[in-house]
Amino acid sequence: MSYFREHIAAMEGYEPGEQPTDLSVIKLNTNENPYPPSPRVLEAIAAVTPEQLRRYPDPMGTRFRDVAAEVFKVDREQVLCGNGMDELLNMTVRAFSGPEAAMAYPTPTYTLYAVLANIQASIVREVPFPDDFSLPMDGLVAARGRVTYLANPNSPSGTYVPVAQVAELADRLDGVLCVDEAYVDFARENCMELARTRRNVLVMRTMSKGYSLAGIRFGFAIGHPDLIRGLRKLKDSYNVDAVAIAVAAAALADRDYHEQTRQAVISERERLARELQRLGLPCLPSQSNFLLACARKPDARTLYESLKGRGILIRYFSSPRVDDKVRITVGTPQQNDALLAALKEIVS
Ligand SMILES: Cc1ncc(COP(=O)(O)O)c(C=O)c1O
Repeated sequence: MSYFREHIAAMEGYEPGEQPTDLSVIKLNTNENPYPPSPRVLEAIAAVTPEQLRRYPDPMGTRFRDVAAEVFKVDREQVLCGNGMDELLNMTVRAFSGPEAAMAYPTPTYTLYAVLANIQASIVREVPFPDDFSLPMDGLVAARGRVTYLANPNSPSGTYVPVAQVAELADRLDGVLCVDEAYVDFARENCMELARTRRNVLVMRTMSKGYSLAGIRFGFAIGHPDLIRGLRKLKDSYNVDAVAIAVAAAALADRDYHEQTRQAVISERERLARELQRLGLPCLPSQSNFLLACARKPDARTLYESLKGRGILIRYFSSPRVDDKVRITVGTPQQNDALLAALKEIVS
């Protein structure tokens, strides 16, 4: 007999990507930024005082909210901080869905949505993306979710749904639309305007990818003050710590550094996509910091294992529709060169 509630005992947990302790591994499997965070981050850490550590942190992370309000042209009351975006996703699932309230999302997508839904025993309506990963608008509207999730850019595809279509979706939905913009720092457009103008849109961001702070755990949501006020009720009292607030605020404020690293990743993404195509590994058009490449010979799993044997980690998903592909994070030029050299050996 299990001590756990029946639906928890029956469900699978989320499987994070491998985090090897061997630092010599070229790690292109979990979409971290290959560049270090802004130099202002280390200054912010050095400036942390013992008094800041002795006391509980500001429960709302006001220092960060003020920077976000200025950068994104919103009111402080429209910003909510989270211990990584994953925590904010968890809060929204708990707030809007459950055994009596459906959540919807297009698939394949970020697999955490399904896990969070299962924890709440939520009704889940998955709507398949077509093969080109364009938005299944009518299917999502028909799914009638109390909350709908759209990762944009999507993972693992890297593809982007134009803002005009996301706006139309938001206007046709009766429930809340959570736009997961984890990878938007590498995209041409973003949906922030919808968070400013729609009552039912939450735009969710992370400091993990575009700001090189996956190790700190900091995310934020921006939306109508009523949505933010409601979500506050679900959060842990002190969900973001004092060091994380200071670090995230410093990184977000350094716009020049952010633009520099963002452009470096984008230009390497375009080069890597061209070279992969040349090696017979065509990729979907990506607006993110990774590429989903179609593997034929050898198959995707063999490719993943052969690279791993050579000290290069990429991501292989065994689930339907993506099991013939591999997801590759864009690295530094040197890391990408090492990857391409290894692939050349493997595919010939
Ligand atoms: C689509 C998507 N959303 C959200 C997250 C989580 O971001 P965080 O590191 O802020 O929890 C990830 C992390 O990989 C992701 O791929």
